[in-house]
Amino acid sequence: MARLAYFECTKCGEKVSAAEPQTLCPKDAGSLYARYDFTPFAGKLRREALKGRVASMWRYAEVLPDVEPVTLGEGFTPLLSSRTYKNVFIKDEGLNPTGSFKARGLCAAVTMCKAYGLKKLAIPSAGNAASALAAYAAAAKIEAHIFMPKDVPQANLVECQQYGAHVTLVDGLISDCAKMAAERAANDGWYDLSTLKEPYRIEGKKTMGYEVAEQLDWELPDAIFYPTGGGVGMIGMWKAFQEMEYLGWIGSRRPKMIAVQAEGCQPVVRALEENEPRSRFWEGAHTVASGLRVPKPLGDFLVLEAVRKSGGTAIAVSDTEMLDCGVQLASEEGVFPAPEGAACIAALQKLMATGFLQPSDRIVLYNTGTGLKYAEAYATRFPRTVAGEQDKLGGLITPR
Ligand SMILES: Cc1ncc(COP(=O)(O)O)c(C=O)c1O
Ligand SMILES: [Zn+2]
Repeated sequence: MARLAYFECTKCGEKVSAAEPQTLCPKDAGSLYARYDFTPFAGKLRREALKGRVASMWRYAEVLPDVEPVTLGEGFTPLLSSRTYKNVFIKDEGLNPTGSFKARGLCAAVTMCKAYGLKKLAIPSAGNAASALAAYAAAAKIEAHIFMPKDVPQANLVECQQYGAHVTLVDGLISDCAKMAAERAANDGWYDLSTLKEPYRIEGKKTMGYEVAEQLDWELPDAIFYPTGGGVGMIGMWKAFQEMEYLGWIGSRRPKMIAVQAEGCQPVVRALEENEPRSRFWEGAHTVASGLRVPKPLGDFLVLEAVRKSGGTAIAVSDTEMLDCGVQLASEEGVFPAPEGAACIAALQKLMATGFLQPSDRIVLYNTGTGLKYAEAYATRFPRTVAGEQDKLGGLITPR
């Protein structure tokens, strides 16, 4: 097991103690990265050692904090060969506990919070992170306080309540939820698990990078499509590639990192087009892909760095394209994706058409969540024919 040595600021490089819970860099409020002491096994830890290990993200124990995991079986999701697109793989994160990749980050975060003895946690969320926090907090017997936009998908709301979390619905976007969560956390002594305001969630999300390498037999793909809201999944994978290179598990070649956004909220696409290091707040953000409705990601500069250094790009797709591709993936391949995941299919079609990618390229698309959470969005494609029929459930479990 690796020892969590310290946290390092992504802006100024300041080193911060890992002996107690941390938030942002005390000098410049930069996000912190966990850094490990790999010296005991540097050069000795072979990737073959992973064979036969637990089929969860904890199979990468050496690169995760050395504490007792609060686990629900997250990670090691299937990498499916597309039945429609040649040389394309779909990493199906919908099969995680609570139906999205957010399980990885919140598993790592709750694990660390439990190890530090924290009792009350807060999170602003577009929906899926809230569901994941609620589940892991229930498993860890820690209090969860959740702030979500009031038009969050119904499934996320019901889930959070089912897991016993304290839910506040906010008349606004995730940025408004974040302000409210931060205020309450400061007043009431809660620990704020906002994206990139603490260094633990990214440690769980980075395991997506380890898995894609292992599942492709340590040959990274030519391109990775990632639906980018806060961008933590992309940032986490980028960190994982760096660590794997240090461990001697991969070389220096990197996939083209492709940030996929929604037309109604595309701050990263605009920043790339304008050649800016950071994004500007996207006014009037709207999209059916609730996880992509992040008007100003805190880690935008890290996403943009990964995109630029890898020779990747950022691209926006419309809600109509997302829903079309979601229906297509489900009906042609048996995978029912979240609109965020479906956005990657639409983006793939566009970048193939422009020649940015070639048919011979090996490509991984992240379906970050299950489409089952988005019944309201997909139901627009399949409306019920008789009003009120939903109350009858066919007479099977209720009287006609
Ligand atoms: C299904 C889904 N995909 C993608 C995202 C965006 O994730 P990230 O913050 O890592 O960019 C979210 C965030 O809520 C999500 O729920
Ligand atoms: Zn700093």
